[in-house]
Amino acid sequence: MTRLKTTLVRAAVFAGLCAVAVTAAADTLDAQTRKNIETAMRSEAYASLKYLGYAKAARAHGNEKLARLFEESADVEANHHFVREAAALGLPGPDIENISDAIVSEYDENNKMYNSFADQAAQVGDHKTAALFRQIAAEEGDHYQAYKDALMRTDLPATPATKPAAREVKRSAK
Ligand SMILES: [Fe+2]
Ligand SMILES: [Fe+2]
Repeated sequence: MTRLKTTLVRAAVFAGLCAVAVTAAADTLDAQTRKNIETAMRSEAYASLKYLGYAKAARAHGNEKLARLFEESADVEANHHFVREAAALGLPGPDIENISDAIVSEYDENNKMYNSFADQAAQVGDHKTAALFRQIAAEEGDHYQAYKDALMRTDLPATPATKPAAREVKRSAK
């Protein structure tokens, strides 16, 4: 076996072991710890996108150094903190599972969260924010449909996750 082949085989075995370890760790997580990781991921994702917005503003204001500081922080929040926390949950998983997860998220945003938020805003007379929520709800519906279409494509590899994904589509199909 050539050195390159040996290296590739070792890398594949290592990656496989890592995947097994991550999945095993995610499966055995304490419920509160899992919840805390999800909360932390939301916080990191929010901070990262917010800092990118701040960076854009700082650059527009001529504060290049501040813009770079925000960008560096945003990178750490997204590509180190969020990614490591996601890995602790075993995310991302196989494509078919990721699509299934995305379908559930977009369905909830499309049908539940944004409509509920819009209703609440409208009830207090904030029709501008209500309209924003309803517009975004519609866009989440487009995402939901796109992921559902992707799930139905025949070129996706079949895995055991196909079953829950199919059930979810049936439940939430429009
Ligand atoms: Fe962070
Ligand atoms: Fe979306």
